[in-house]
Amino acid sequence: MSQKNIVLGVTGSIASYKAAELTSLLVKRGFSVHVVMTAAATSFIAPLTFQTLSGNPVHVDMFSPPKDWNVEHIGLAQMADLLLIAPATANFIGKIAAGIADDLLSATVLATKAPVVIAPAMNVGMYENKIFQRNMKLLREYGYYFVEPEEGRLACGTAGKGRLADLEKIIKVVENLIFREQDLSGKKVLVTAGPTREPLDPVRFLSNYSSGKMGYALAEEARERGAEVILVSGPTGLSPPPGVKVDFVETAQEMFEAVLNYFPEVDVVVKAAAVADFRPKQVAPEKVKKRGSCMVIELEATPDILFHLGKQKNKQILVGFAAETENLLENAREKLREKNLDLLVANDLKQEGAGFQVDTNIATILYPDGGVLRLPKMTKKELARVIFDEVVKLIKLREKEGDR
Ligand code: PMT
Repeated sequence: MSQKNIVLGVTGSIASYKAAELTSLLVKRGFSVHVVMTAAATSFIAPLTFQTLSGNPVHVDMFSPPKDWNVEHIGLAQMADLLLIAPATANFIGKIAAGIADDLLSATVLATKAPVVIAPAMNVGMYENKIFQRNMKLLREYGYYFVEPEEGRLACGTAGKGRLADLEKIIKVVENLIFREQDLSGKKVLVTAGPTREPLDPVRFLSNYSSGKMGYALAEEARERGAEVILVSGPTGLSPPPGVKVDFVETAQEMFEAVLNYFPEVDVVVKAAAVADFRPKQVAPEKVKKRGSCMVIELEATPDILFHLGKQKNKQILVGFAAETENLLENAREKLREKNLDLLVANDLKQEGAGFQVDTNIATILYPDGGVLRLPKMTKKELARVIFDEVVKLIKLREKEGDR
């Protein structure tokens, strides 16, 4: 295997010293690390530290005399298999979001075609600031990968989210991007995740226990395999996976509209969301008062999103989920047929370690030809991998048939 080049950008933060450990860990994993520092970073840690740990010259100044005839930021941008910025300050992230390239590192980020991974580190107030959140959202939409900071005690003495992510977590994102087979490259994948909420009045809603973990794992897996991913998510407490475009919705109707809007442009849809089948027929404009000892709520059906997609599909591969508490295979097979799906992933909610909220799942994949693949208990990320292995097989089969 030829050695992969990581251009490591270090910006001026109290966490800059952690980039030294990161350099050392990346070198130990066999990467060739080329460090680019902002001027502010050199106030926190000396370039010599990175030069010694990486065994490569450290780049700081855009206007230093060239060592060869490469324009330096273009040379770095082209040689990078991946550009990692750790730690990345709010200021530096703001510069990239605005397209500013006034130093060597920002110019390299703007010029590169390699994946860019950003690991922010800052004070919690800066992290929560709407301007920073907007910048991060924008860059995510442009395909930049974020490894979100962690909660903990911060250098300023307060506690909250802002501490540079664990170095092993950052390296895992890097390795996944560099070494994972890009077998979904060029494909657009739409994943739905989480519950929907159906309002009853301004303070109450009907919903379910879905945490979004299954759907977020699927979105992450598809992105790591090179797909362009749109995640339509109901309300969850999860951080979106790096490099994924997220569209947050609340109700089944909103999810229906978002999914149908994206549908014509996507190649694959995986519907892991737990969509409410019914909603209150009337939504009270004011909080419903407690009267008497019982209350009757009239419900009406929500649109069945998958059913609509199954009717409309042409080139798209449709993957549905079935959450069952009885007659798993029988009910799942019915859904596969009714909704015109290409694959159906059935999970039995009564089994321990399967279904809502937990990090694992126990699934059975059903195929339209009657085939059944029973899977053991595995993490939701591992299940996501198996599901996309099956999706890729289907894509290849269709491409082969198309060639004939
Ligand atoms: O989010 P987690 O806590 O990780 O839990 C994961 C999960 C249990 C939610 C997930 O694995 C799962 O099973 N998701 C589907 C849940 C569900 O709604 O199942 P269903 O059998 O009611 O629906 C069948 C399929 O039709 C699903 O793909 C669903 O997204 C879709 N559907 C359902 C109703 C509706 N109105 N529109 C739909 O598109």
